[in-house]
Order: sequence, then C-alpha cells, then structure tokens
Amino acid sequence: MTGVELRPMRWWDIPAVMGLETELFGDEAWTAEAFWSELASAPPSLTGADSRRYWVAGEGEADLLGYAGLSLGGDEAYVQTIGVARRAQRRGLGSLLMRQLLADARAAGERSCWLEVRADNTEAQAMYTGFGFVARGRRRGYYQPSGVDAIVMAADLQTGGSRR
Ligand SMILES: CC(C)(COP(=O)(O)OP(=O)(O)OC[C@H]1O[C@@H](n2cnc3c(N)ncnc32)[C@H](O)[C@@H]1OP(=O)(O)O)[C@@H](O)C(=O)NCCC(=O)NCCS
Repeated sequence: MTGVELRPMRWWDIPAVMGLETELFGDEAWTAEAFWSELASAPPSLTGADSRRYWVAGEGEADLLGYAGLSLGGDEAYVQTIGVARRAQRRGLGSLLMRQLLADARAAGERSCWLEVRADNTEAQAMYTGFGFVARGRRRGYYQPSGVDAIVMAADLQTGGSRR
C-alpha cells in the first residue's frame, strides 16, 4: 500500500488500537489494560526473554489501519496479535506487519516463531502459511467465550521459514 508506514506502538495509540481490536475481535477483544501491560515490555532497548515488539501501521499519525505484536522468548518468538482494519484488508498490510515481526524475531536470534489462530479463521491461516508457518497442534476450546479451537502454527526461522 502506498503511503502506509510502520512505527512502534506507543501508549497514545491504545485508544485507536482498541477501536480496531473491538471491530476485529468483538467479544474476544483484548482490553486496553492488556495493551498497556504489553507495551510496558516493548521499548526497543529492552531485549531478552519476555520483551515485546509492537507496531502500528497507518497513513500518518491520525489514520491507524493495523497493528501487530510479538513476544520474544529464549529461542522462540510468539505472535501475540495482528489485525488490519476491515476497510484496509487484502492490500498487503497484514503481510507488511508480519514481515516486520519476523524480522524482529530473527534480529533477536530466535530459532522459531509460534502463534495461535482460530480454527475457523481461514484468511489468517492462509497468510501464515504464505510466511512458512505450518500447523503443529490444536488447543480445544481455546477461544472464549466462543469455545472455538485454536490451531497452533510455527515457522522455522533458521531454514528460511518465511517465504515472503
Ligand atoms: C489476517 C489479516 C491480519 C490479514 O491482513 P491483510 O492486510 O488483509 O493481509 P494481506 O493483504 O497482506 O494478505 C496476506 C495473505 O492473507 C491471505 N488472506 C487475507 N485475506 C484473505 C481473504 N479474505 N481470503 C483468503 N485469503 C486471505 C492471503 O493468503 C493473502 O495473500 P495474497 O493476497 O497474496 O493472496 C486480516 O484479515 C485481519 O485483520 N483479520 C482479522 C483479525 C485476525 O483474524 N487476526 C489474526 C488473528 S490470529
């Protein structure tokens, strides 16, 4: 997408992020407190296990179109969240955010990247597969209150796991 840039998520982005979060995830949305807590571990200078990388995508400061977050572990990174405003979907923004998260994971020396995705979320699964993620397991009734299963997916970052 032309004109769209990524920048680190800051606390003042949380109201706009919450707007998208509610639009995209409904009654399974994170709370603002959850984002505050994640951002407390997200300064770029903070490295090592349990640190976070959070990004927002937009055309300038005012128009926030997407966001994504990663946690760094010992050897494994974990995609905490990713979302793109419905009006901006299917224009490459999700891929832009995923590329950034995987670059962060590699820069931190992680060997693999993991995530959970709703079993009925075929759009997101297609995107993850395009980045080299493969299904590695299933968590029954993981998402609440819906009770939908989670598919656990992982990408090997050492063997050029992400194709995009
Ligand atoms: C998943 C999501 C982040 C993708 O964002 P996006 O900006 O639309 O993604 P992109 O335009 O970069 O598309 C990347 C790939 O995703 C897949 N994809 C995205 N939307 C799709 C759709 N409606 N149908 C089928 N595949 C789709 C395709 O493989 C696509 O690659 P292609 O365009 O080369 O075919 C977005 O759909 C979203 O925010 N969904 C709601 C929140 C969500 O489910 N988050 C993930 C939680 S695990």
